[in-house]
Amino acid sequence: MNRFTLTSKIRDVYNSPVGRDVIDKLILQLGLSEKLLKNPLAMNMKLGTLSARVGGNADEGFNDAILGLLNSEQNDCLKEPPDTERKWWKESLFYQIYPRSFYDTDGDGIGDIPGITAKLDYLKELGVDALWLSPIYDSPQDDNGYDIRDYRAIDPVFGTMEDFDNLLAGVHERGMRLIMDLVINHTSDEHEWFKQAVSDPESKYRDYYHFRKSEGEEPPNNWKSFFSGQAWKKIGDSDDWALCLFSKKQMDLNWDNPEMRRDVYEIIRWWLEKGVDGFRLDVINLISKTDGLPNGNDFIGKMMGPRGIEHYFYGPKLHDYLQEMRSEVFEPFDAFTVGEMPGIGPETGKLLTSPTRRELDMFFSFDHLELPGKAKFEDYIYDAAFLKTYYTRWMRNYGNAYQSSLFYDNHDNPRMLSKIDPDGKYRDKLAMLLGAIQFTMRGTPFLYQGQELGAVNTAFSNIDEMRDIESLNLYNELIEKMSEAEAFKIVLSGARDHARVPVQWDGSKHSGFTTGEPWIKTLSDGYDAESQAVDENSILSFYKQLAQLRKNSEALIYGEVEILRTKEQIFAYTRKSKGEEYYIECNLSPNACSRPSKRPSGKLLLSNYPEQSKTMREFEVCIIEIE
Ligand code: NOJ
Repeated sequence: MNRFTLTSKIRDVYNSPVGRDVIDKLILQLGLSEKLLKNPLAMNMKLGTLSARVGGNADEGFNDAILGLLNSEQNDCLKEPPDTERKWWKESLFYQIYPRSFYDTDGDGIGDIPGITAKLDYLKELGVDALWLSPIYDSPQDDNGYDIRDYRAIDPVFGTMEDFDNLLAGVHERGMRLIMDLVINHTSDEHEWFKQAVSDPESKYRDYYHFRKSEGEEPPNNWKSFFSGQAWKKIGDSDDWALCLFSKKQMDLNWDNPEMRRDVYEIIRWWLEKGVDGFRLDVINLISKTDGLPNGNDFIGKMMGPRGIEHYFYGPKLHDYLQEMRSEVFEPFDAFTVGEMPGIGPETGKLLTSPTRRELDMFFSFDHLELPGKAKFEDYIYDAAFLKTYYTRWMRNYGNAYQSSLFYDNHDNPRMLSKIDPDGKYRDKLAMLLGAIQFTMRGTPFLYQGQELGAVNTAFSNIDEMRDIESLNLYNELIEKMSEAEAFKIVLSGARDHARVPVQWDGSKHSGFTTGEPWIKTLSDGYDAESQAVDENSILSFYKQLAQLRKNSEALIYGEVEILRTKEQIFAYTRKSKGEEYYIECNLSPNACSRPSKRPSGKLLLSNYPEQSKTMREFEVCIIEIE
């Protein structure tokens, strides 16, 4: 492949995986019209002209950074036939548990492992096949467990190793599987390796991390942290600094060190020998950093994430390390992996998950969580019609050949229901509509605890009620520039705390989550599991039906998806396989409209409205079996 320069044509750039993802990202982040770039004239434009048009040229280093990224990948866009291999993780319904907020059995106000075991029958009944546990390892809990102190121990706040073994046995007895959250881009600063690296600069552990020297208060480079401020921790009053892309207690590991990698593989092997079925790999695309850790570009930082991100979101050795890790530990155990990969688009995603390249099985993309041109900490109403644009692009480019992960909620974002419908006017209808898409689109659905009950955002009234380090750091940064009320409003719009309040189990005090004082505010609004379990029209009952429908359908799991041409607010598609065919029709808007005139006829299997009428009502969904 030729090297890209500023005189390369956009057409050629668009045919390279990084180029296509970068251009699509530009369109998304800057909220540009697709037509502006994807027309024959624009495709003939030179890269340098595009860069000037989007404003990149104004920023020194932008062109170099983009060229560096484009030239880092030698592959063309992958064109592979659909992957039809049958795998348990393609057929499964995953359910993410945030243990701290799931269910508390010992009354300390914090959810625990016995609490998860106690609810296994609930999960089985819902139709869940596999659990993903957010971290339960020993940790100072600076970032609620994503800062691991000891990978081979359970944090006492969640229970004991015996509790974990019981949980795993309970999961397997019920024919379900369990995957752990593996945080190996960084460790806690209280991890033994880091402690030794600091106390003895000559120790081998020094090179397990990114230590650099810099005099005074200026850090070694200009990278920013995902959690506000600089991405460096100054070590005491020395000139030594260590890289930390998240909190000041989450120290980035140096993946270029082979001994460190071997030690990480030992940890993974240890858990696999225990019998866990796989891992969700935390920010795994960040593990490889550009040699020398050069300064980041401002423009790219504003567009894509913290300054410096172009030097590690698709780093030079990412593929090598993933391939090595897979062959060393995942493959021998036939373990499943899903990577959390902020910034990765469908084309680079293919290179990272293609079955023939042997890296990861699946990955999470986040491009649907905000509208084009919008950022997480922006107060706006999410227009659900964007989901049609997103899935159309995604299914055409990725979804029919690879296995997509399908999700709306997780522990890092406010609830999707509240983004689309902040007043909750259509709460039930919308929860059912989103679930229906998630279970009938091609890919593996991941529910996040509470989604099956219609959980919405929490009405936090001030910053003291929030617990998350990202919210608190951002608030402290913002109040330097604006009033407390303004800062709180911004934090509230994107706070992770919303999804971290306890699950509502019943109508008792604290929604039955704990008999003690909960670690964070609880939301008790009647959308609890106990009352929904006995109501056949509830969101929970609808999700159970969706799960059963998908489980028993070859077409909904392996069938191709075809998206039909309809007016903007209607999202209609078919799924088919070997004589089994479904038609799914969704109104993605809070306004009623007429039904598509041409539609296949068949038997209505499931809808969020009791009967079909001539018009499609607000957020209506129908799942029809074509006869
Ligand atoms: C991604 C996790 O999902 C998030 O919760 C965490 O704060 C960061 N990675 C750092 O580990």
